[in-house]
Amino acid sequence: MAKTLSFTLKYWRQSGSQAKGYFDTREMKNIPDDTSFLEMLDILNEELINEGQEPFVFDHDCREGICGMCSLYINGHPHGPATGATTCQLYMRRFNDGDVITVEPWRSAAFPVIKDCMVDRTAFDKIMQAGGYTTVRTGQAQDANAILIPKQDADEAMDCASCIGCGACVAACKNGSAMLFVSSKVSQFALLPQGRPEAAKRVKAMIAKMEEVGFGNCTNTRACEAECPKNESIANIARLNREFIKAKLAD
Ligand code: SF4
Ligand code: SF4
Ligand code: FES
Repeated sequence: MAKTLSFTLKYWRQSGSQAKGYFDTREMKNIPDDTSFLEMLDILNEELINEGQEPFVFDHDCREGICGMCSLYINGHPHGPATGATTCQLYMRRFNDGDVITVEPWRSAAFPVIKDCMVDRTAFDKIMQAGGYTTVRTGQAQDANAILIPKQDADEAMDCASCIGCGACVAACKNGSAMLFVSSKVSQFALLPQGRPEAAKRVKAMIAKMEEVGFGNCTNTRACEAECPKNESIANIARLNREFIKAKLAD
């Protein structure tokens, strides 16, 4: 049978991007330790609704570590204390009876608060629209073996492509930099032959958009790598810089 725990929950309330935020506090009682963090917030919302109060707003979708929506800063860590996991993959057994658990939104100028802990990550979409794709001619599907790709390159590209665009790297970075996200997206294409024809154009466009939408610079502190739920490596940032320099030299 699951154990239960009781704890103090401090959760961020903010009615909009320009409003002043504050913490609400609630004593959560007898929560089973096999409850996921988001299920625990569902319980909070049931309690709030039953009392006639406004529910606490937070983002989520897949609840299985795929979509990157569950953007919560928990006890000073994006996605909480678990490593290599998203908020939706975090379970209450990671906490202790009597703990104080603090829940905040991603804090970055480029991710304005919509409400409470839901932030607007359209800035990431704009970077992807600037170049995070390959142009394809539609028509007959190509034979799978028409372009041979070394296994190591395919594996590395897959690792880079596993970035779910959650924004934890930005929230972790003291500069609010999106370099880990952008470098993972640039790398997933740069490592494959299908991504090479547009590589120079892509890297310049994505970096220009990243700067335009308000993300900061990288000073190599590696906080992003430590907090990324998909374990993206800052080796991607080095690859991004190489791709960018190559593109500029070609100009
Ligand atoms: S690099 Fe990691 S932390 Fe950043 S958006 Fe991708 S998955 Fe999230
Ligand atoms: S290495 Fe450090 S400074 Fe650079 S993006 Fe990551 S957290 Fe930010
Ligand atoms: S809700 Fe989709 S990754 Fe957490």
